[in-house]
Amino acid sequence: MTKPIWIKHASQLATLASNINGPRTKEAMSDLGIIEDGSMWVEDGIIQAVGSTKDLEKLYSGKLHEAEVVNAAGHLITPGLVDPHTHVVYGGSREQEFEMRLQGATYMDIMNTGGGIHATTRMTREATEGELIEQTTRRLDSFLAHGVTTIEGKSGYGMNVETELKQLRVMKKLQEQHMIDIVPTFMGAHAVPPEYKGREDEFIEYLIREMLPVVAEEKLAEFNDVFCEKGVYTPEQSERILEAGKRFGLIPKIHADEIEPYGGAELAARIGAISAEHLLKASEAGIKAMANSGTIACLLPATALYLREEAAAGRKMIDCGVPVAISTDCNPGSSPTTSMPLVMNLACISMRLTPAESLTAATYNAACAINRQEQVGSLEVGKQADIVLWNVKSYQELQYLFGVNHVKTVWKNGVKVV
Ligand code: NIG
Ligand code: FE
Repeated sequence: MTKPIWIKHASQLATLASNINGPRTKEAMSDLGIIEDGSMWVEDGIIQAVGSTKDLEKLYSGKLHEAEVVNAAGHLITPGLVDPHTHVVYGGSREQEFEMRLQGATYMDIMNTGGGIHATTRMTREATEGELIEQTTRRLDSFLAHGVTTIEGKSGYGMNVETELKQLRVMKKLQEQHMIDIVPTFMGAHAVPPEYKGREDEFIEYLIREMLPVVAEEKLAEFNDVFCEKGVYTPEQSERILEAGKRFGLIPKIHADEIEPYGGAELAARIGAISAEHLLKASEAGIKAMANSGTIACLLPATALYLREEAAAGRKMIDCGVPVAISTDCNPGSSPTTSMPLVMNLACISMRLTPAESLTAATYNAACAINRQEQVGSLEVGKQADIVLWNVKSYQELQYLFGVNHVKTVWKNGVKVV
């Protein structure tokens, strides 16, 4: 039996607890459930109690001497951060494209001449499972070091049966081997593979006939994502792929309106996607439709910055009633980062979220975007003890002091991992 953990005297304990079930919108995104001089009791990897230090001293008066005590005086405590959109499993890297873009090439120019997603696809097809595990482990360690305890991970650098399955199996192995939780998404339609150029519909048939049944049979993914973008998949093609995934029990997600307005947000709302991602160019009508359907906007301000584009209209989306989550989009092209704290800062700076909204978007709403709100995303009795102790005294300070990793200690399922 491991000792209970008693964390006490946190200057701010941002619990993110609330009576609202499901993604938070509008004012509810600002309610962090803050407890001052906060305290938590953890046993067997599960949160047993959350309250003021005084309350917990009373509640556990007979057991206090048994616990490992963590004095969090002067420190902020939050739930482990959740990153609901990553392409974390990939081979190789693309630093030369960074320079090409700085010299004026666009993301789509590079992709259309065999670089971008296609370059990573070649390197991922060539990599062995062992190599992918080794490279991905380094990124997962870095996520934990930045206070991230749960991530979503997408396939999509295979675009053939063999490599899509290889990526998903790597995620399954890492879910068993690594302390971080990985929630898998199938993204066979991340681009049109070169061997199917001009024959998109044939590739879609192949994906539906050969990939989806195996992914479902082996329970390798929970979600199905598609890059709905001009020059990649049209809204009609995306709908076909996502509807087919639904028949196999996969919940739709959509990379939507990243580069051009293309009806992706509208499609996400119409087909009941759990989230739509990017949305840099989402239309007014699309934003309204998402507010009505409750589709989560998963916004990726680090990607916008990295591509030197204007960030999504996060402020406006929240004001319109869209539930907003944020994510790194960790991938080797448009956002090679594992830093959710940086993404929280950017959500404030470039999308005008308030510090409180930004924390909700990186914890509870992020958990909702991957269907994990019952387990993680807030500090409540019965949930996984995924907890971060920060080297700052308040959530306001966390969002204000940017570009620095303020993590002091991270517990995953009650185990100290950082
Ligand atoms: O979310 N937009 C499409 N997919 C990724 C980028 C993948 C890559 O460039 O390798 C994204 O930004
Ligand atoms: Fe992405």
